[in-house]
Amino acid sequence: MKVIRIEEIDSTNSYAKSHIDNFADRTVIHARRQTNGRGRFNRKWVDLGEGNLFFSLVLKPSASMNPVFTNITQYASVILCDVLENYGVNAKIKWPNDVMIDGRRKISGILSETVMDGSILKGIVLGIGVNLNASQSDVSDIPDRVAASLNLEIGKSVNMDVFLDEFVNKFFENYDEFLEKGFEFIKRDYINKNCFLDKDLKVQVLNELKNGIAKGVNDNGELLLQDADNKELVLSIGDIL
Ligand code: BTN
Repeated sequence: MKVIRIEEIDSTNSYAKSHIDNFADRTVIHARRQTNGRGRFNRKWVDLGEGNLFFSLVLKPSASMNPVFTNITQYASVILCDVLENYGVNAKIKWPNDVMIDGRRKISGILSETVMDGSILKGIVLGIGVNLNASQSDVSDIPDRVAASLNLEIGKSVNMDVFLDEFVNKFFENYDEFLEKGFEFIKRDYINKNCFLDKDLKVQVLNELKNGIAKGVNDNGELLLQDADNKELVLSIGDIL
């Protein structure tokens, strides 16, 4: 597996997408600084300074789309929780793939983008940001959400290169088996690490707001919500507010 290290870039995801043909399967693109980091739903991912982690994995599992590829972000969220737990923190998943400390404060975001040429899949770019070494005031200044940073949780600075290594090694350890078996392969771990089930949720789905109790996650990784009329809603995309 190749690791490309960049001093500064607008966005590791944008860079990986625009040069997708130049990168082999399982290339890691790591930037020390990111000037225009992007998140889901056109949000920004703020660079909280030197020592925070911004990277993208270029994945080329096959030349055609497969439904399991949409679950790669959930697979990555399980691995991130494992790595974070080894630092002694309580990391949990908010559907579909946000990693939260104590179920409330977001420490990591994942953005998966596909590059297609007609019906040919050129690659998947899995971008991950993890707050590892931020100041309390920068974390508090992040707009629209309550955030966390690993150094503030454990009271010491975190070696970013070691953390990246730990993540990448764990990610690829079971990646082939995950691709073969799909979401069911991680379902038990995903559910064990969740912080959203049985809660009354508001979920933004495109331009609509859905309300209901989170009753479960099905074998495709979709969220099952029970609305006020006891109707079951099956959500494949969305953002828990
Ligand atoms: C989200 O929470 O909405 C996803 C945030 C993803 C941020 C990472 S940082 C590395 C990669 N490059 C980007 O521009 N975004 C992802």
